[in-house]
Amino acid sequence: MLFSQLFTTALLGAATVSAKYIVPGARWRDTNGDLVNAHAGGVTVDKNGTFWWFGEYKVQGQEEGGGVSVYSSEDLATWTHHGFALEPIEGHPYIDPTAIIQRPKVVYSEALEQYHMWWHADNSTYGLLLQGLATSKTIGGPYTFVNATSPLGNWSQDFGIFTDYKDGRSYSLYSNGDRKEGRDVYLTSFNEDITDLDEVVHRFDKYDLEAPTIIQTEKSYYALMSHKTGYRPNNVVAFRADSLAGPWSQPFIVSPLNTRTYNSQSGFSMRIKGTKKTTYLYMGDQWDSNSLWESRYIWLPMEIDDRKKTLDVVWYDVYDLNVQTGEYKGIQGKTYYGKDAVVAGNAFKQEANFASGGVIVTGIYGNDSSVTFEGIEGTGKPQWVSFYYQNTDDMGFGDQPGGTPDRIGGTWQLRRISSVVVNNDTSIVHTLFQRDTHKGIILSTPLQLTLEKGRKNSITVRGLWNGFDYKGADLDRIVVYPPEK
Ligand SMILES: *[C@@H]1O[C@H](CO)[C@@H](O)[C@H](O)[C@H]1NC(C)=O
Ligand SMILES: *[C@@H]1O[C@H](CO)[C@@H](O)[C@H](O)[C@H]1NC(C)=O
Ligand SMILES: *[C@@H]1O[C@H](CO)[C@@H](O)[C@H](O)[C@H]1NC(C)=O
Ligand SMILES: *[C@@H]1O[C@H](CO)[C@@H](O)[C@H](O)[C@H]1NC(C)=O
Ligand SMILES: *[C@@H]1O[C@H](CO)[C@@H](O)[C@H](O)[C@H]1NC(C)=O
Ligand SMILES: *[C@@H]1O[C@H](CO)[C@@H](O)[C@H](O)[C@H]1NC(C)=O
Repeated sequence: MLFSQLFTTALLGAATVSAKYIVPGARWRDTNGDLVNAHAGGVTVDKNGTFWWFGEYKVQGQEEGGGVSVYSSEDLATWTHHGFALEPIEGHPYIDPTAIIQRPKVVYSEALEQYHMWWHADNSTYGLLLQGLATSKTIGGPYTFVNATSPLGNWSQDFGIFTDYKDGRSYSLYSNGDRKEGRDVYLTSFNEDITDLDEVVHRFDKYDLEAPTIIQTEKSYYALMSHKTGYRPNNVVAFRADSLAGPWSQPFIVSPLNTRTYNSQSGFSMRIKGTKKTTYLYMGDQWDSNSLWESRYIWLPMEIDDRKKTLDVVWYDVYDLNVQTGEYKGIQGKTYYGKDAVVAGNAFKQEANFASGGVIVTGIYGNDSSVTFEGIEGTGKPQWVSFYYQNTDDMGFGDQPGGTPDRIGGTWQLRRISSVVVNNDTSIVHTLFQRDTHKGIILSTPLQLTLEKGRKNSITVRGLWNGFDYKGADLDRIVVYPPEK
């Protein structure tokens, strides 16, 4: 009750925001101020260079069958909603509201001069494992359902599409499910029309991975995939090859260990060839199984070195991507440390050799045990503020039966929630979701806050109910970024 009230307030408080920077893990809003609702999606570029983002549409309390929503953008940061690209149809065998319509991707069929949407089509118990096809003459849709088929007679679960920029050929990329006979990821070419699969080009045999995507450089292909931990994030891996048919390398981890790919799952990637630079974007999902509809997006540049055969997904709290030149730059912010902040109640500063200044603020709980950062410089305009935190639950929840951290068979929890109040003004309570990190791992998560102009602002963080407890995560520091232009 309290939580939902606070949450509504927070949403209203931020509704007028327009985004120019890319801020991984923030509540991304479209040009109407609504949450961007396009999960596990893909971005297709039309002939005018406009970006079209297709993804799973999810509303509160509903997991599957929400249909496919579509948004357009000129800069990958400002998104306009165009409603459903594929709307569920009551009683339809494959796109009924109870059906699985997952990981949609759209490609242009030159041969048929129309757009083809493909996705993982299934019934609610994942018993069909098919690939759906729908078509439209215009990229924004609406798309008309064509069929849902077994790829070359096999099973298909997590779905991706890759188009080779050198010859325009498109490929279907899919895991073949969790059964013992499955547990592979297939890379299979489409026919010329992109209406059927053609032949298996490579099988990533028995690695038991999912959420596949391929990114192509001038010399290499890198196939990124996640492990299978449901909505819990894990360490995404990549394979490298000179050609799609292989040989492919051993899988390797693409982000700092134990960050679980900055709390995200792979799913899509994009090559942005600008006038000055080619940038590779990792486009992952930050799932939240406690409120799936509210899951976030983690889009980050990948640094690829074909000579060393390495690929790293690199974290930026806030960055500016120029899709014309292909350049991006991280925005510089001002840091305020937990060791200098004021604690109240049972919150305290504890030795932590991995934290800034060897100290982290812990014990943040409910209304009374809080931490306040003071002397913060603001501009009077909305600004992104990143909260660097540690959540030691390790995807378990200590107080729950069987739920001790990192424990086999344990129940699990994905995040704590803190409240954030600026200048003691409790009429605007922002909710800060702090997903599990690992012990000793500090990650950041952003909120957009409006601070007063000048250097006298305070930011107070308290603990909120997350469904289990009032614990807030430990805080290392906050970074305040300049407003968007
Ligand atoms: C490109 O822009 C033109 C002019 O605005 C428009 O008529 C056309 O439909 C656009 N093409 C695509 C593929 O969206
Ligand atoms: C899904 O399909 C499988 C295979 O046909 C079937 O066994 C299962 O009962 C179906 N589930 C539902 C909810 O219809
Ligand atoms: C799918 O492929 C796997 C090997 O990847 C094979 O063992 C299995 O029998 C195939 N399933 C079907 C239905 O063809
Ligand atoms: C699905 O529809 C496409 C386009 O009409 C067609 O080429 C393909 O053969 C169909 N697949 C099956 C299995 O019917
Ligand atoms: C925090 O304050 C709110 C509003 O006064 C109250 O409803 C809530 O129960 C308090 N939470 C705790 C953990 O004391
Ligand atoms: C916030 O309230 C505390 C005590 O409740 C007070 O010490 C502090 O000065 C207030 N800060 C601001 C910015 O009003």
